[in-house]
Amino acid sequence: MSFKAISRQLMLPFALLLTATPGAHAAPPAGRLLASQCAQCHGSNGNGPGFDEIAGKSASELRKDLLEMKRRPVEGIMDRQARGYTDAQIKLIADYLAAYTRGGDN
Ligand code: HEC
Repeated sequence: MSFKAISRQLMLPFALLLTATPGAHAAPPAGRLLASQCAQCHGSNGNGPGFDEIAGKSASELRKDLLEMKRRPVEGIMDRQARGYTDAQIKLIADYLAAYTRGGDN
């Protein structure tokens, strides 16, 4: 196989990748990306398995909890978790997680 043919074969997937990428996937909501961290310990829908269930809490409840955890002296896991986010990010996380209902499977 000639060099030209090989390089054409190698370039095609890259060219397709470059042209296919922009706009191909809508970006997930920012709250979802930020809250993906929470799934490690609270389950992907906030219902566990794991530590305390966080599904079923309202956005304002979650936001209040997280801001409190962020500001109190560091004692537990959550105090450290909450410190990893800005207040604006905490609002996005709370708004996103509030859509999940307790015992639900969504
Ligand atoms: C490394 C494990 C871990 C991660 C990651 C984690 N949590 Fe927690 N979470 C815990 C533990 C353990 C508790 C219970 C003890 C405590 O409050 O410190 C808890 C408790 C909570 C509570 C209080 C629940 C209640 O009923 O009082 C909320 C709200 C909460 N987490 C939200 C979140 C959110 C939102 C995230 C993602 C930003 C998150 N957690 C990430 C381990 C984790």
